[in-house]
Amino acid sequence: MGKVTVITSGKGGTGKSTITAGLGAALVRRGCRVLLVDCDTGMRGIDLMLGVSGELVFDISDIVGGNCPPASAIYQCRTIPELYILPAPQNIRDELSPSVMKRLTEVLSGYYDHILIDCPAGIGAGFQTAVAPASQAILVANTEPLSLRGCDKVRQKLNYCSINDIRLIINKFNERKFRKTGIYQDLDAVVDEAGARLLGVVPEDNTAASLSQQGLPIEGKVKAAYAFDRIAARLDGRDVPLLIE
Ligand SMILES: Nc1ncnc2c1ncn2[C@@H]1O[C@H](COP(=O)(O)OP(=O)(O)O)[C@@H](O)[C@H]1O
Ligand SMILES: [Mg+2]
Repeated sequence: MGKVTVITSGKGGTGKSTITAGLGAALVRRGCRVLLVDCDTGMRGIDLMLGVSGELVFDISDIVGGNCPPASAIYQCRTIPELYILPAPQNIRDELSPSVMKRLTEVLSGYYDHILIDCPAGIGAGFQTAVAPASQAILVANTEPLSLRGCDKVRQKLNYCSINDIRLIINKFNERKFRKTGIYQDLDAVVDEAGARLLGVVPEDNTAASLSQQGLPIEGKVKAAYAFDRIAARLDGRDVPLLIE
């Protein structure tokens, strides 16, 4: 059975979808077969980021509604053959219940090494559905008080849902800006504020952002891709030093 991980943050715009897509690609580079489940009903984005939006016919709600077999709603990333995408429903009316999402993911986890679930912002119904099938969570934070407050809230909610394996990714890190703002003394202070163990730091990387916006995977000689490779290795239990660029 594959490992099911939810990528969440509370606050919008911290980079959950970017991390889901980037980490998924990095896990494939390690030889894993990976499914990305987009749970951001009404606002789906993973398909756009990985360049499959033009091919979409079915989504999660079609599987659950019996309109198609699961395989028909799962799309293969063209440039990364072992990376698969299950799109979120486009219509907010089709939001799935936590129990249905859990059952579906249980079935799918037999076919993949990792399932990464892209969680919507907030801690409402969409959050409950996205976290229901997960056995571990990755919190995505930026080095801003509002983002860290979101992490703290989400961490409490995750504990309430019995998810206690919670790791932190600090995304869009820019050392110069971080020092200039001076809100936190160092990254340790940021990690303390988020209240979760650090899994990795992804630098602010406009090349990576622009690849995503063009529907291209974050790979190759891109700063963020190196960070994703190290995070993927750590997620696989390897002892990789934390490198902060
Ligand atoms: N490491 C990064 N460096 C630069 N821009 C980033 C990075 N991660 C995400 N972004 C950009 O931040 C914006 C929000 O990212 P997104 O992944 O959509 O966030 P979320 O899913 O949390 O709402 C996007 O424009 C994305 O390209
Ligand atoms: Mg998103």
